[in-house]
Amino acid sequence: MTRFALFAVCALQLSIVAGYQVVRDYSGQNFFTGWDFYGNYDNLTLGNAVYLNQSEATKQNLAYINSEGRAIIKVDNTTDVAMGQNRSSIRMTSQDAYPIGSLWIIDLYHIPYGCSVWPAFWTFGPNWPNDGEIDIIEAINIMGNNQMVLHTTPGCTHSSTYNQLGANIGSDCSTPSGCVVAETQPNSYNSGFAAAGGGVWATQFDVTGVFIWFWSRPNVPESITQANSTSSIDITSWGTPSASYFANTCNITEFFSPQNLVFDITLCGDWAGTGYAYNATCGSSGPTGLCYNDCVVGPGSPRYDEAYFDISYVRAYTTEQPAPTTTTTSTSIPTSTTSTTNRQTSSSGAISTRNDSSRGLILLATVAVGIILGARFAL
Ligand SMILES: *[C@@H]1O[C@H](CO)[C@@H](O)[C@H](O)[C@H]1NC(C)=O
Ligand SMILES: *[C@@H]1O[C@H](CO)[C@@H](O)[C@H](O)[C@H]1NC(C)=O
Ligand SMILES: *[C@@H]1O[C@H](CO)[C@@H](O)[C@H](O)[C@H]1NC(C)=O
Ligand SMILES: *[C@@H]1O[C@H](CO)[C@@H](O)[C@H](O)[C@H]1NC(C)=O
Ligand SMILES: *[C@@H]1O[C@H](CO)[C@@H](O)[C@H](O)[C@H]1NC(C)=O
Ligand SMILES: *[C@@H]1O[C@H](CO)[C@@H](O)[C@H](O)[C@H]1NC(C)=O
Ligand SMILES: *[C@@H]1O[C@H](CO)[C@@H](O)[C@H](O)[C@H]1NC(C)=O
Ligand SMILES: *[C@@H]1O[C@H](CO)[C@@H](O)[C@H](O)[C@H]1NC(C)=O
Repeated sequence: MTRFALFAVCALQLSIVAGYQVVRDYSGQNFFTGWDFYGNYDNLTLGNAVYLNQSEATKQNLAYINSEGRAIIKVDNTTDVAMGQNRSSIRMTSQDAYPIGSLWIIDLYHIPYGCSVWPAFWTFGPNWPNDGEIDIIEAINIMGNNQMVLHTTPGCTHSSTYNQLGANIGSDCSTPSGCVVAETQPNSYNSGFAAAGGGVWATQFDVTGVFIWFWSRPNVPESITQANSTSSIDITSWGTPSASYFANTCNITEFFSPQNLVFDITLCGDWAGTGYAYNATCGSSGPTGLCYNDCVVGPGSPRYDEAYFDISYVRAYTTEQPAPTTTTTSTSIPTSTTSTTNRQTSSSGAISTRNDSSRGLILLATVAVGIILGARFAL
């Protein structure tokens, strides 16, 4: 009898630990609701893209819902661009900003690629770089893999590869290229991503750190494939993230404020179009060896036929806890669960210096606490 009660306590705790609740679902016919379209040429990364406003983007069919109910965000591939002009594309920013304690999941089937193409799905706070930036999906040209990056003011670093699958490329998040982590799993970008059926990224924006997971379609965990637009999400079985930026070398509360989500596709510009980045992979794709001249100018097809996002959904979640119940077992829940896998703020302070190795231990400890408390209440 007592033993049975103990197991019940554990099960209850684990199910509540799992609770990330949906706060916003961008999908289907409502996908494009709640975004601001840029409506100006790319004056930020100096790419040769003109970001249309929403009415123009809709009219020119660069932002629409396809026959399968998925969102398409694309570069214009129907216009012959004259020298001196830029090519139409999209940059859109969510009207909602999501605070520390959020989780974002994006499920896509195709990411833009091809010479001169520079797509990104990322987040930033209003006062850049003071409010931080998290690049979740970003790559250029015909790169073979995705890159994840934090951009911050000086003082935020990432040199450890502890509990992450990706490879570190830069450790100082305040440098122009930021603290890059290159994806090492296959099919995270380019034609390989689409051929595998796309995939999913999940980003946990937490006081204990920023953690980014990537799964190619065959590996997407059940907790995600089984979820719908209202289900809570259990992240406990997700395994090792692709990038783990722990708060012990980057105080998330100090370097990040609530983040807006952004999709954009620029062409050439600061990264895709310059020097080595372009020359190494695309420099021989035209007569001049120059990104703008050889790619942007002239016909849009077939050059930009692969320059589109095909998105099933973007969901934003929060760690907000379910209302406590009045049963005796629930008294152990608020104190133990808020400091475990949810990575939610802890009053102890100790949690912010913990890293993910402690995760399993914390979970065990939680169960143990649950057993002790449960035993106490059961006796
Ligand atoms: C870029 O253009 C936007 C929209 O017109 C404008 O608000 C912003 O100040 C410009 N930024 C820069 C860096 O020129
Ligand atoms: C095209 O884009 C470039 C790079 O951002 C910019 O310098 C230029 O002014 C743009 N030209 C037009 C016609 O918008
Ligand atoms: C959108 O852009 C088009 C083309 O530049 C312009 O004619 C139109 O006035 C813009 N609409 C809004 C609402 O700004
Ligand atoms: C989501 O799934 C739950 C069961 O897991 C179900 O109760 C709910 O109705 C579903 N919601 C939608 C919008 O399909
Ligand atoms: C992290 O930054 C916040 C906000 O600036 C500050 O209150 C807190 O003391 C810092 N934590 C550590 C461990 O430095
Ligand atoms: C890239 O190629 C262009 C055109 O051939 C050349 O002008 C430039 O110096 C090259 N840059 C690098 C970094 O190799
Ligand atoms: C533009 O690209 C799409 C695929 O993204 C393709 O279906 C379409 O045929 C292309 N348009 C032209 C004019 O080639
Ligand atoms: C994380 O914790 C483990 C075990 O305590 C330790 O070996 C590792 O160096 C830590 N990593 C970071 C980034 O603090």
